[in-house]
Amino acid sequence: MFARIAGVGSYLPGPPLSNDDLKQRGVETNDEWIVSRTGIKTRHLADANCTSSDLALEASRKALLAAGIDASELDLIIVATSTPDFIFPSTACLLQAKLGNNSAMAFDVQAVCSGFVYALNIAEKFIRCGSHKKVLVVGAEVFSRILDWDDRATCVLFGDGAGAVILEASGKPGILASAAHADGAYHGILSVPGNVCGGKVIGDPFLRMDGQAVFKFAVRVLADVAHECCALAGILPTGIDWLIPHQANIRIIESTAKRVGVEMNKVIVTVDRHGNTSAASIPLALDAAIRDGRVQRGQKVLLEGVGGGFTWGAVLLEF
Ligand code: UT7
Repeated sequence: MFARIAGVGSYLPGPPLSNDDLKQRGVETNDEWIVSRTGIKTRHLADANCTSSDLALEASRKALLAAGIDASELDLIIVATSTPDFIFPSTACLLQAKLGNNSAMAFDVQAVCSGFVYALNIAEKFIRCGSHKKVLVVGAEVFSRILDWDDRATCVLFGDGAGAVILEASGKPGILASAAHADGAYHGILSVPGNVCGGKVIGDPFLRMDGQAVFKFAVRVLADVAHECCALAGILPTGIDWLIPHQANIRIIESTAKRVGVEMNKVIVTVDRHGNTSAASIPLALDAAIRDGRVQRGQKVLLEGVGGGFTWGAVLLEF
């Protein structure tokens, strides 16, 4: 029994906002700095009344349509997000209600930018053990809500969006191998170190990051976990048709591809269009590559993510 992708969808809110648009909004930056350091050209920001579950709903509807199944058939809904609508109920439950499904198991996964590969990894285990057959896995984020717009070193990097995948129990190959890790000792290099207590925000409610430490950590673990996942499936990285890494920064993506031994013409890059959308970035890139015809049925695709925690993981699948 395999967990096989039956359909994929994604959604970006509103019109794209360019680097020059950010400058015009008062951020002390410029297009040359952002493009040369990160590869980001545009990002999308959700309106104030639009939540992660709203973005998740749009992406999920497209994934359900692509899979040809009705929301009522889903028996498990997992949403990877670090920007949930509420403290509780979970964004997965809110999404479930919006989809009109009233019986699936539904929960959130909080692994920041690795959230989507963590969620796929979990979903695959539910399918393989035979308890669940049609699973919706979503990465949805409104990171614009946790950005300090006076911190130019972070606010230019992130955007909002969602991506969704329907996984189905199948006799045909799907997920071939997965690996996931965390090392909480590195919690301080990327965090939103605040919480709500007694009706007040305690600590700092904005994203804080040691960019250079994150850069070095990300390249090392993304390369390691790609090799680990390929070894688990018994293939060499050269046997991958497509590498779809977390879309945070083109320089991290290029350095990782080099260490893994995959040519850049086999790497899907969409970070230029939407910036770092955390848990949404991998399904956004996967959906773009399926819809433009690059990723084809039968091909081997390696998805990998890294994010706050620190967390990291990879999923190798035959599409
Ligand atoms: O999901 C994982 C998320 N995290 C990441 O992907 C981040 C990984 N890290 C990085 O991509 C890079 O560390 C950054 C792009 C964040 C920063 O690049 P850097 O080469 O490490 O720059 P830096 O922080 O060392 O800053 C260099 C200069 C500084 O000016 P001075 O002190 O040299 O005069 C900054 O003030 O660049 C300045 N700077 C900016 N200038 C224009 C920082 N942000 C900006 C900006 N526009 N937005």
